[in-house]
Amino acid sequence: MDIRLNNHFLDVKETYLFSDIAKRVRKFQEENPDREIIRMGIGDVTLPLPGAITSAMEEAVKQMADKASFHGYPPEYGYDFLRDAISDHYKNIGAPSVTPGIIYVSDGAKSDLGNLPDILGDNPVIIPDPVYPVYVDSNLMNGRKISFVNGTKENDFLPEPPADTGIEPSVIYICSPNNPTGAVYSYEGLTAWVNFALKTGSLIIFDAAYEAFISEDKPHTIYEIPGAESCAIEISSFSKFAGFTGVRCGWTVVPDTLEAGGIKLSKFWARRQATKFNGVSYITQMGAAASLSGKGFEECLANIAYYKRNATALANVFTDKGIYFTGGVNSPYIWLKCPGDIGGWEFFDSILERFGIVGTPGEGFGANGSGFFRLTAFGSYENTLKACELFKTL
Ligand code: MLT
Repeated sequence: MDIRLNNHFLDVKETYLFSDIAKRVRKFQEENPDREIIRMGIGDVTLPLPGAITSAMEEAVKQMADKASFHGYPPEYGYDFLRDAISDHYKNIGAPSVTPGIIYVSDGAKSDLGNLPDILGDNPVIIPDPVYPVYVDSNLMNGRKISFVNGTKENDFLPEPPADTGIEPSVIYICSPNNPTGAVYSYEGLTAWVNFALKTGSLIIFDAAYEAFISEDKPHTIYEIPGAESCAIEISSFSKFAGFTGVRCGWTVVPDTLEAGGIKLSKFWARRQATKFNGVSYITQMGAAASLSGKGFEECLANIAYYKRNATALANVFTDKGIYFTGGVNSPYIWLKCPGDIGGWEFFDSILERFGIVGTPGEGFGANGSGFFRLTAFGSYENTLKACELFKTL
């Protein structure tokens, strides 16, 4: 064939981090069919969907089976009942400016993160390191120039904005609570980024997928910060909050006050979604809305409390052993320094071989992840306790 390909794909690693890990684990399992494996790698939920959610979905299925209440194509930006429920949630977390009309329902945060570069021109991109690899990969695939702000032990993995002199208007990614480090920005820390974006004419893409894990007094949404409606898009998800990793539903907030060159960003995003996306199923959206209702919300919080108990159990072991770590408080992730100063992939092989435990090497999240390791608390309590006993012998 003589067509030209998007050769920017040659700039990303050949396999996606979690596909690479899954492949290594499959190989280990084939070679060791009798070994038990404790999966603490990908941040995938394990508890079943709460009852209020499945009841709402069952009801939706019944409606789909009846001519009078059947639903065809969903509205392109989400059903009003779900946009209203998400907006009410924002009111409860201190951001009443997030009205239903600026919420765009989607099939998940990862898709929106990958799709947003469609509406953005060739701007410089600023990304924290370490961070969720999708930000880097989706910008590399579009040929964008990326600079990194360093998350390190010294700044508690919460990088501050660079000096604002000579900075071109940029697209800035922030994830708080952070994947992989579990670090969460304070009000002051996030205000510094909002002020930086306003001063430099930049756009922040704020990933709030782990918001529901925050238990300390920290911002749950960037729209708690004054000025954010003029410089930030927020992406969030039902995956970790309501256990929707396999169901698929999320949303993006694009305030009408975001403008560049006299054009509203919401106009381009709405156009992009209407053309390239056909919405989320009625059944899924009914389930998502139920997760934000009284009983459903309580059930989701109970699941989060379950995962956080796992995180506390792991954190206690590493504290007792004097192993440096972050996270585990406002996050389902524990980010630890590999004992013995070995690299993350070496530690990965070592604990897989010795303990049958799968985690994620820090190197997969950026250069500053070198020598660190991420564990998730999304497994069962029983398996987490088994892992804790094994980690005690490190
Ligand atoms: C993770 O493990 O980092 C996440 O589960 C990946 C994702 O949310 O796509």
